[in-house]
Parts: sequence; C-alpha cells; structure tokens
Amino acid sequence: MKKCLRTRLSEFLSPKELACIYKSYDRVGDIAIIRITEKSQKYSQAVAEAIMDVHNNVKTVLAQKSPVRGDFRLRELEFVAGEEKTVTIHRESGCLFSVDVKKCYFSPRLLYERMRIAKQVGNGEVVVNMFAGVGCFSIIIAEHSKAEKIYSIDVNPAAFQFMQENIKLNRVYGRVIPLKGEAKEVIEKRLRFAADRVLMPLPEKSFAHLPCALLALKSLGGWIHYYDFEHAVKNENPILKVKMKVAERLEKLGVTFKIPFGRIVRTTGPNWYQVVLDVKLNSWGNKINHRGS
Ligand SMILES: C[S@@+](CC[C@H](N)C(=O)[O-])C[C@H]1O[C@@H](n2cnc3c(N)ncnc32)[C@H](O)[C@@H]1O
Repeated sequence: MKKCLRTRLSEFLSPKELACIYKSYDRVGDIAIIRITEKSQKYSQAVAEAIMDVHNNVKTVLAQKSPVRGDFRLRELEFVAGEEKTVTIHRESGCLFSVDVKKCYFSPRLLYERMRIAKQVGNGEVVVNMFAGVGCFSIIIAEHSKAEKIYSIDVNPAAFQFMQENIKLNRVYGRVIPLKGEAKEVIEKRLRFAADRVLMPLPEKSFAHLPCALLALKSLGGWIHYYDFEHAVKNENPILKVKMKVAERLEKLGVTFKIPFGRIVRTTGPNWYQVVLDVKLNSWGNKINHRGS
C-alpha cells in the first residue's frame, strides 16, 4: 500500500482495522481494483475514497469479488465508488490499451515481462501470440521491435474486439494480425510452421498446448516463451520444477532444445509461483511427433 494512502487511512482506521486491509491494488487506466475480504468488506468505501483522494487520476474504484477464472480468465468485479464504468484506457511502455476490465483479462503487473519479451524479438521475425487478450504483448512487441508480423489469437470475443481497437489506437495495423478463435484450431488451419517465436501467456493451458506451439514454429526452430504456475515449498525451486516438467514433455515429442532462461514472474499465493521459461528449439525437419496434441 502506498505510504500516503496508509497515512490517509490511519486518520480514521485503527492499526487493527488497517491490518485486515489488502496491501496492494491494481491500477488499470483511471480504474483502481481493490481486493476485499469478508473482514475488510465494511471498509471498502473508505479505502476507495482514500485512493481517489490520494490519486487525482483515479476516477473509479472496483472491488474484486472472485479469483481470475474460466476460459476467458475473468474476475467478478463490483462497483465501489466514483464513476460507474468498467472501460478505460491504460498506458504502458508508450502504448495505449483500451480495455473493459469486466469482460477481458488485463494485468498491469506484467509490465516488466512484456518489455522483457519485446527486447528479445529480432528484425523481421514472425511471432505467434497464442493467448493475446486485448493485445498487450503483441502491440508492445510491434512498438519496440522490428518484428514483421505478430499473429495474435484470442477466443474471447470481447478481448478480440478490444484487440482490434488497440491495433488501430497504436497504429500497428498490418503488423499485429488479430485472429479470433481457439489457439489450437487457428494454428492448425492457418499458422503451421509460421513463426520464429511463440508466446504462451496462459499458464493454465500452456502445458497442454505445447505440441501446438511446436506446430506454429518454423521447422528451422525458434523460441517458445512458456508460462506456467508451480507449487514449491521451502528448499524447492519452482523454476527447476517447471524446467523438468517441460523438458520431459519436449523429449517425448522428439525435439532438441535448450532452456537457457527461466524466472519467477510473480508470486500468486502461498508457495505458488508464476514461472516463465525461454525455450530455444533446434531445427527438427519433419521429425516432430504431434500425436500428443
Ligand atoms: C491470461 S490471459 C493473457 C492475455 C494477454 N496475453 C495479456 O498479457 O494481457 C489469457 C487469454 O487467453 C485467452 N484464451 C483462453 N483459452 C484460449 C484458447 N484456447 N485459445 C485462444 N485464446 C484463449 C483468454 O480469453 C485470455 O484473454
């Protein structure tokens, strides 16, 4: 929690009351999203007003009522204070993203990760983003690299619509190509052996979709940015656990590879981590076994 917000809240809440309030909140454009528990529910209005007091550019405060869930990765949101709306424009790394936070997945916390990937993309590369949402990774790559094309797939019609709007907003039309549908179907129909680099920013489904990511890669090989959730207790290394799981799967699929980099993107709960691996696939000719897909 920002220090000035804590100070503001301590004017009317006791230290015990303050202790039961979540320490962080997300800012998406001019919307703040707070998290409330049963205990802190009664303070949500006070927290919302304090946030708007401290940050003049926050116009709406929403409360997250459920974890992110379902195929579209959405969370239940409840209006708390300010203007009653769920659509906003978020600025990140010099790009603008129009988003309805109720109908589309959006996380401002992936800012560093999105730029980290964009910086690796080489001149003239073709990228496939299998789970593109409103287009954040794809548009940031278009803006900060000389990629030729970034095919951007999403199954959520609302996310697809906002992706189209964001492509126009950021003038990357013709380089970021929006594709609506299931990643597996779209790749099988249109993007076989198309990419130098494949992004899999959907930790819940990445493992199951690995054969499909391989299918999207050029037979010369290339990179896969693989995201997953992993549980790790003391003395366990979540990055190593994901590496072992992915390595075993890729070996079974008959490809040669290296995993030169992995990092924890964020902690998602007690002993739970979101991990990314940068996987370098070697050329495999036509030897790949896609029966596992
Ligand atoms: C965790 S979000 C990531 C969005 C985006 N990459 C970002 O950073 O904002 C995952 C996205 O994958 C989409 N999705 C889920 N299953 C899918 C599938 N089988 N094929 C294509 N998109 C899918 C969801 O609709 C959601 O927008």
